[in-house]
Amino acid sequence: MLLGIGGTAQAQGAPKKVDLAKGQQIASQACAACHGADGNATGPANPKLAGQHPEYLYKQLVNFVPQPGAKQAERVNAIMMGFASTLSDDDKRNVAAYYASQVKKPSSAKDKALVELGQQIYRGGIPGKQVPSCAGCHGPAGAGMPAQYPRLAGQWAEYTESQLVQFRGGQRMNSAQMTAISARLSDREIKAVADYVAGLR
Ligand code: HEC
Ligand code: HEC
Repeated sequence: MLLGIGGTAQAQGAPKKVDLAKGQQIASQACAACHGADGNATGPANPKLAGQHPEYLYKQLVNFVPQPGAKQAERVNAIMMGFASTLSDDDKRNVAAYYASQVKKPSSAKDKALVELGQQIYRGGIPGKQVPSCAGCHGPAGAGMPAQYPRLAGQWAEYTESQLVQFRGGQRMNSAQMTAISARLSDREIKAVADYVAGLR
């Protein structure tokens, strides 16, 4: 099945086609052990990819690989650098489109004491610390906004927490916006907002 994929491809003028069957084949052979055949990773060690925006997934696969001349990737992760390096540009688009076409299974918030703080931060930000509302970019229900802002709803809290810590710590350098925002969050605030978005659906 062939589908158009928006964003950068359109900006370049040439409509890019993706091959979902090829994407599914790559997913089942190379990615399913960690991310699930349908993108619903079975445990918090690996992020869910199902239902994520394809442009965002594609961008991550590009960002895991150091660009020519660069000492390190914009998003540093040894495992994913290995897998992303084996994929051609077309196959990055194909597997991104396949996982995007799957349905994400919900997670739930676990920490009742923190979830209220998480909701406040998600909806209203932290005005005193110049933290903007997460909903402003990631949407009130965490669905994100194609093509730029990823879906957060239903992701493992542990993974969301780890990404905010990596943005803050500089291991993940592929978003100046998220670097600036996470720098203003305490460990407790990160835990709270990560737990809250796990329960969004
Ligand atoms: C051995 C386990 C493993 C395999 C196999 C694997 N991944 Fe990953 N993947 C991970 C982990 C762990 C992360 C989180 C990395 C981090 O902390 O930044 C990740 C992150 C990602 C992300 C970023 C998700 C996000 O929300 O930003 C994408 C996209 C991705 N993987 C795609 C793939 C694709 C496509 C394949 C197959 C070609 C694959 N992965 C194979 C473990 C794996
Ligand atoms: C100004 C817009 C903006 C705001 C506000 C914002 N984000 Fe983001 N966020 C982004 C963008 C853009 C990305 C994608 C970065 C990339 O391309 O890798 C992102 C990515 C993320 C990711 C990584 C998702 C994944 O699958 O790895 C997490 C987690 C996240 N944001 C959490 C938050 C939280 C929590 C807040 C509120 C405290 C927030 N964001 C506020 C723009 C924003």
